[in-house]
Amino acid sequence: MQRTLVLLKPDCVQRRLIGDVLSRFEAKGLHIVAMKLLQVTPELSKQHYAEHVEKPFYSSLEEFITSAPVVAIALEGLEVIRVVRDMLGATNGLQAAPGTLRGDYSSSRQMNLVHASDSEESAKRELDLYFDADEFCDYSLVLTPFMR
Ligand code: PPS
Repeated sequence: MQRTLVLLKPDCVQRRLIGDVLSRFEAKGLHIVAMKLLQVTPELSKQHYAEHVEKPFYSSLEEFITSAPVVAIALEGLEVIRVVRDMLGATNGLQAAPGTLRGDYSSSRQMNLVHASDSEESAKRELDLYFDADEFCDYSLVLTPFMR
């Protein structure tokens, strides 16, 4: 079982798409083990996007990610890191396949609706950035037949 960090980015919150995106993860049978609405600060942005801080687009990315609240979610499931990345589609909404979240809702590389960790290492690092250990809920979901 893996965990991954998902952020519903400011464009998702501003466009009132939180429910639509959450329902896609729930329909897939993924397990929400932590969730909160928060304002990303410039400091948190630099920690989160540490590998991009020196890139030309970083100042624009920081301005965007701090422009409105985000919803941080910890999702748990089998191969959840890959499964969620597949559900998001390509980074650039213009290139993301129809049926993926970005393919269906985004036409932008920056305003691409949702962020998700891309490896076990980044998932651990990003989950630690957004959640304290006592914010994770340990509970079982009743399995419906399509999830068995
Ligand atoms: S890279 O350069 O390939 O490593 O970048 P990528 O993995 O495709 O994207 C990493 C995050 O940076 C954002 N991004 C951009 N924002 C603004 N302008 C430009 N040109 C740009 N390129 C990449 C992109 O939305 C990714 O954000 P997350 O939150 O990881 O999806």
